[in-house]
Amino acid sequence: MKYIIATDHAGVDVKNYTKELLKAKGYEVEDLGPYTSDRVDYPDFAEKLSRKVVEEGGDISIEKDWRESKVFGILICGTGIGMSITANKIRGVRASLCHDAYTSQMAREHNNSNILCFGARTTGFGTIESIVNSWDNSSFQGGRHLDRVKKIDILDR
Ligand code: RB5
Repeated sequence: MKYIIATDHAGVDVKNYTKELLKAKGYEVEDLGPYTSDRVDYPDFAEKLSRKVVEEGGDISIEKDWRESKVFGILICGTGIGMSITANKIRGVRASLCHDAYTSQMAREHNNSNILCFGARTTGFGTIESIVNSWDNSSFQGGRHLDRVKKIDILDR
């Protein structure tokens, strides 16, 4: 399992914290930046990360029935909103803005989400840890949820 992570200037410290959480779990983590708190535009990082997750993680959509990606993305900005809006423009991405362990669990179990977004200015470090743990411990449940995510994928075509 590999994680690719990126932020904008609002989340550099939170990105570093999240990287350490993932590394402690033994995962490979690729950091797409930025590496300083100089102002940047979040869509640039969201696009770069999203394209990489789809390229490396493969197609999770209905064309091949469904599979869970072995490559996940994590996108952080002030609120997580701009990152999630941008990421979901890229075909093959199901990005979820999560605020707690429950939304993170549901993003994986019900939505087969492959990119986790959260807000550096809205989410405390303890909550971020619970979001990451919950994401990591959850898997897509298929079944009735598959029929629903298929309807999302059709909109991409
Ligand atoms: C940057 O100030 C802020 O707009 C950005 O981090 C994010 O919250 C956008 O959705």
